[in-house]
Amino acid sequence: MIAIADKRVVLVVDDERGPRESLRFLLKDEYAVICADNVDSGLDILKREHPDLVIMDIRMPGKTGIQGLRELRAIDALTSVVMLTGFGALETAQEALRLGANDYISKPFDTTEMLNMVSRFTLRSRMEHKRVRMLRELQDMNSKLTEDLATKDRLATLGQSSAEFVHDLRNPLMIVMGYINLLDQQLVKSQGMFGEQLGEAADYLEVIEKNMRRCHELIQMWQQADGAELSQLKPIAVAHIIDDLVMSVEPLVSAVDVEIEYQVDDGGAVVLGSRAQLVRAIHNIISNAIDAVDRGHGNIVLACHRRDAAIEFRVSDNGCGMPPDVLARIFEPYFTTKPKGKGTGLGTVIAKRIVEEHSGFIEVKSTIGQGTSVSILLPITTAPAAD
Ligand SMILES: Nc1ncnc2c1ncn2[C@@H]1O[C@H](COP(=O)(O)OP(=O)(O)OP(=O)(O)O)[C@@H](O)[C@H]1O
Ligand SMILES: [Mg+2]
Repeated sequence: MIAIADKRVVLVVDDERGPRESLRFLLKDEYAVICADNVDSGLDILKREHPDLVIMDIRMPGKTGIQGLRELRAIDALTSVVMLTGFGALETAQEALRLGANDYISKPFDTTEMLNMVSRFTLRSRMEHKRVRMLRELQDMNSKLTEDLATKDRLATLGQSSAEFVHDLRNPLMIVMGYINLLDQQLVKSQGMFGEQLGEAADYLEVIEKNMRRCHELIQMWQQADGAELSQLKPIAVAHIIDDLVMSVEPLVSAVDVEIEYQVDDGGAVVLGSRAQLVRAIHNIISNAIDAVDRGHGNIVLACHRRDAAIEFRVSDNGCGMPPDVLARIFEPYFTTKPKGKGTGLGTVIAKRIVEEHSGFIEVKSTIGQGTSVSILLPITTAPAAD
């Protein structure tokens, strides 16, 4: 390609040397002029050089300018074309206009008229190409926007159906809770009649009841989770978070014969946030620890201490630990090493999101075969507790 910075390019296609050279001479100062002496080589140059204007003679041996124009328009609808006609060849000139030429000029041409035409039509080509380019960009933007909108629509539908699903889940849950109460009452009555024999059944029922209550709380939390809850952060006593955790974790550990020890020295610390959400975050970390330890030998410690201006909730376990490649991925959504149906790979993601929404952060240390320690650090506030 001829690399002539921003000079407009004119292609002259004429079999006669005279007009070709006089056009080259006339235009060479302002334009880059390329010449061809027949239609085929003219079209080759057109494909290569993308001129701003083609000046083509109508009468040429072999392929005529009219044939050349037809072929040119089939490959390029935008570039301006001016036909050179012989004196008195008005009909052919008009045919050329019908076939897509932009104008014609008769030989011998008037140089001023020619210069005006070249200036006008080279500019026109540039504008046309620019217009088409912008139109294409606009169409691209439009289709990207349509795609984005469709994705947003899909997400909105997903959000809506999840909301409906969670709403519907409440009903059977309430029924089960009702039956648990009935069963509890029956058990109390039967206990009087059968003595100790029903002791274990009562314990099982308690675990079921606590977990059903937790399901109920989770649903409530989900329904309120529209951000409204976090936009009104409240000062919460750390001690209350620990109380809630003990309540929700005890039934889990006792069900799988795992020891949990609480080492709490919160010094009356208060944090700003949502009590339910913070309990949810730490609960997820503890439930990972429960999954990681051996039944019967498992030991989990929930420690809570001040660390400078922060409060640290540290969950340590003597479980399986993690190799570095697992450790590197635990905050990835849907990453799980647990069997299908056991883990969704969202526990740590939820915990991290909640902690970060509370301006805190999570640290994880793990040694394979020895255990894991997960620390959640949250800033302490000086505001008095509101809960
Ligand atoms: N205390 C831990 N000890 C060993 N591995 C852990 C521990 N905590 C997390 N992991 C690893 O990180 C992975 C991701 O944990 P995450 O809580 O996000 O998902 P999950 O526990 O697999 O599923 P769920 O969504 O039910 O929580 C786990 O599958 C496990 O491999
Ligand atoms: Mg988990």
